[in-house]
Amino acid sequence: MNNFDTATQLVPRVHPLSNAGGAIISDIDLRSPISEEVGEMLRSAWRTYLVLVIRDLNIEEQHQESFCKIFGNLAGLRSKVYRTGGDTKSHALWVANAEDLSRPTAVQQGEMMFHIDQCYTERPSKASTLYAVTIPDEGGNTRFSNLIKAYEGLSDDWKMRIEGLQALNYFDYQANATTRPETIDPNGPQFLHPVVRTHPETGRKSLFVNRQMTIFIEGLGANESDEILNYLFEMIEDPTNVYEHVWKVGDLVLWDNRCTAHARTYYDPKESRLLRRMTVLDENPVT
Ligand SMILES: [Fe+2]
Repeated sequence: MNNFDTATQLVPRVHPLSNAGGAIISDIDLRSPISEEVGEMLRSAWRTYLVLVIRDLNIEEQHQESFCKIFGNLAGLRSKVYRTGGDTKSHALWVANAEDLSRPTAVQQGEMMFHIDQCYTERPSKASTLYAVTIPDEGGNTRFSNLIKAYEGLSDDWKMRIEGLQALNYFDYQANATTRPETIDPNGPQFLHPVVRTHPETGRKSLFVNRQMTIFIEGLGANESDEILNYLFEMIEDPTNVYEHVWKVGDLVLWDNRCTAHARTYYDPKESRLLRRMTVLDENPVT
């Protein structure tokens, strides 16, 4: 390395955002290759803060892909989201408030309850990323709940009560994209997961249920299941466990989908909101 390289090399810095997690990473250039050293620093910050925010970017799809690969293997898109004319090699899904037939689009308008991406599947993604292209003047914020903190805040009695329980997670984006389903299609996307999950890297326990997609606890009567779930949902949504991200164009946000839940605040659907989403596969089963 010559003197010029040394002088221009950025040293990323971590700026914590809240007591519920989240950190801004500054002094990083995602249009250039990321060294293994910086990659390890990012993974370490991610394990600690669960949600990483990088601002003021102007990045293309390939830069977001390279960033995701620091954390694991990229997830592909489900075939049903492809549209005529879309790039079927792309890993990007566009979260938008209007359908765009030229590319894979998930149309989602207004508010969205707390949920965990793909928790209704056997192997939900490990990490999700969103890159903000167009943001409304007001609203459409993403609220991230720290599910480790929500679990650790429970009394010992509550921790014992939910230990070993499993819950059914169900959701069908095709039928209903933003609210809790009122009816369950027996053939719809669903999976049983533990109510308390252990992080495979840190060993920390977290809740793994959410108001939008967790339907009932297996083996309990409806009243007891509802009582437990409603209490856990309140813990998850307690503001002391939540970091709320107010988007700006050029933001890239990465979250740990194993131990956070996220929700979107209301925005006027007549305003444009466009984000590029990519996710990272989980190499470990949910336990
Ligand atoms: Fe989501």
